[in-house]
Amino acid sequence: MRDQVFSKPQANIVDFAFNEEVVNVFPDMIRRSVPGYELVIPMGGLIAARHMGSDGVAYDLGCSLGASSLALLTYCPSPDIGIVAVDNSQAMIDEAQKHIKDPRIKFRLDDLLATDVTGAKVVMLNFVLQFLDPQHRGELLRRIAKSMDPTGLLILSEKVQDHDPDTQAFFDGTHLAWKQANGYSQLEVSQKRQALENVMQVETPQAHHERLKQCGFNDIIQWFHCMNWVSFAASPTRVLATHE
Ligand SMILES: C[S@@+](CC[C@H](N)C(=O)[O-])C[C@H]1O[C@@H](n2cnc3c(N)ncnc32)[C@H](O)[C@@H]1O
Repeated sequence: MRDQVFSKPQANIVDFAFNEEVVNVFPDMIRRSVPGYELVIPMGGLIAARHMGSDGVAYDLGCSLGASSLALLTYCPSPDIGIVAVDNSQAMIDEAQKHIKDPRIKFRLDDLLATDVTGAKVVMLNFVLQFLDPQHRGELLRRIAKSMDPTGLLILSEKVQDHDPDTQAFFDGTHLAWKQANGYSQLEVSQKRQALENVMQVETPQAHHERLKQCGFNDIIQWFHCMNWVSFAASPTRVLATHE
């Protein structure tokens, strides 16, 4: 379904939520709003699948409709892997479960700040950390680094901002033009921006890199950067170079 959530003038703009209205249009919304989404998800899935090998458990935290889980499975045909796909939006989990029947994916309605990821070979955190209170981001990453397999892999994808105001202005202007070229009106863009203002706080790629290091990730590679979006591969142990 086409995203028209912000197409009509709204007297009061309420904070953005992953509710039923958003869930119904989510694939169209994210595809037309996030440059690179259609590359990051499959490529992240490929990177994750190579790290999984033929067994073990992966976690897809903030899974929405399960796109990252499906991308991993596309490149990982083994029946012996499992994925725990976690989201705290009932509407998302219900919709994902309607469409995904692969027994290797188990959906879990839970707050990812509370979900146990012990022994995870892969953790995927795609476009989710940005929605957490910044105070809780380090705590989550530290817990993941501590409890995952020490040679496990984290894929972290985020919206970011540049430390240089001129660069940021160029990125913002290009993003606006891209959204308009994808069919969003000026009204839709500005109402969505207001709705996101209180719920999404973005940081620089350097801040993410520094926090990953401080939280116990000793091998960090930023493998994607397109304007305001980045993705990292990270592990507690120096293993990424051994990906042949
Ligand atoms: C932008 S979407 C993620 C997209 C998804 N990872 C993908 O790649 O298609 C953010 C998701 O994170 C979920 N989320 C946000 N905060 C959460 C939390 N504390 N616990 C669990 N899920 C959360 C939202 O419900 C939403 O489905």
